[in-house]
Amino acid sequence: MQSRVSSLEEGKDATARSQSRVFPLTLLKFFALFLFLGLGFSVISMYMTRYFTVHNVVPTTRTSFEPCVHELNNLDRWIKPPSSLIHTMNDEELLWRASFVPRVKNYPFRRVPKVAFMFLSKGPLPLYPLWERFFEGHEGLYSIYVHSLPSYRPTFMPTSIFYQRQIPSQVSEWGRMSMCEAERRLLANALLDISNEWFVLLSESCIPLYNFTIIYTYLMKSRYSFVGAFDDPGPYGRGRYNENMAPEVNITQWRKGSQWFASNRKVAVNIVEDVKYYPKFFEFCQPHCYVDEHYFPTMLSIEVPHLLANRSITWVDWSRGGAHPATFGEADITEAFLKKILEDGSDCLYNDQPSSLCFVFARKFAPSALEPLLEFAPKLLGFG
Ligand SMILES: *[C@@H]1O[C@H](CO)[C@@H](O)[C@H](O)[C@H]1NC(C)=O
Ligand SMILES: *[C@@H]1O[C@H](CO)[C@@H](O)[C@H](O)[C@H]1NC(C)=O
Ligand SMILES: *[C@@H]1O[C@H](CO)[C@@H](O)[C@H](O)[C@H]1NC(C)=O
Repeated sequence: MQSRVSSLEEGKDATARSQSRVFPLTLLKFFALFLFLGLGFSVISMYMTRYFTVHNVVPTTRTSFEPCVHELNNLDRWIKPPSSLIHTMNDEELLWRASFVPRVKNYPFRRVPKVAFMFLSKGPLPLYPLWERFFEGHEGLYSIYVHSLPSYRPTFMPTSIFYQRQIPSQVSEWGRMSMCEAERRLLANALLDISNEWFVLLSESCIPLYNFTIIYTYLMKSRYSFVGAFDDPGPYGRGRYNENMAPEVNITQWRKGSQWFASNRKVAVNIVEDVKYYPKFFEFCQPHCYVDEHYFPTMLSIEVPHLLANRSITWVDWSRGGAHPATFGEADITEAFLKKILEDGSDCLYNDQPSSLCFVFARKFAPSALEPLLEFAPKLLGFG
């Protein structure tokens, strides 16, 4: 009875009471929300601390039972090439990192110098089977880097030496600064491997003209880097100079040359570390200037003229005239034609001595040239 009354009373007073409870109830909700948020933040910050310590602090404070500590703290950290070419550095960070140079010149480990073959291509490398034969049996003496358009997805099998050799890339266009940026990006990625001593820039239409041993020796023994650089007084040379480049670049210092270079480590660092000429070329060597024909030749001729051979080692045929050199397809590839290339330009200086070996690569070869090239390579090019 009593309880019924009280329940009735409760019912009657419900409205009034619930109004009086509104305040404490909201307070409780807020409290719960704060508790929840607080917990959430502490969980997040626990993860953050863990993340940052793993990456930055812990290697020095962790105990030795974790294998990664050994890996990070011994010499391997500095001399082993990165296990993957994928990284998240932007160009500014990458060029900075790549410009590191040891001041002690003796390597405290057995360093086998390698040649970095850097392929600059839009997409596929149709002549890759020829290159695979060229590289066969020379593991440890070369490394491969490929810069293709970011949208391109390579299809190399895991067994291929080109598998996962693509570096993080960006769109690059011929004749524009983005082309030089792609070349610097290739150089910078290749510089991260301390064993790379020579850096060769190639396109998808390039072929090797000799076997690996000959080319490796030719590069390793060269005193000079092979960067084409000459003073062309005509409209396509000095005619492209812009006076706004002074005083960094004076017209008498303006040089022209093919973009396909081969440089040693010293000159490669000169290219990636440049912050003096880059803004000038970026601003004042616009489209019709063809910056990829002028930036490296001019900048290097000012900074390190004594280190340059002033010639390219990549054969090309301009004899047909026009804005582009000749491209050779299946029908062009004959024994006589290849012999002609090998004999061509047999008149140059190598280490200040007259030499008959002047070109060790050639361009431009169409995908259809692959079959005859594979056929003639063993007899005429000395590999395969
Ligand atoms: C490379 O070619 C040279 C000259 O033709 C030859 O003497 C040498 O044996 C070749 N090397 C290899 C590894 O085939
Ligand atoms: C360019 O450099 C040359 C030689 O260093 C000098 O003689 C000439 O006066 C310079 N020209 C200009 C426009 O500064
Ligand atoms: C290349 O040209 C520069 C001038 O730009 C010169 O100082 C250097 O000696 C030349 N290199 C060779 C190997 O002749």
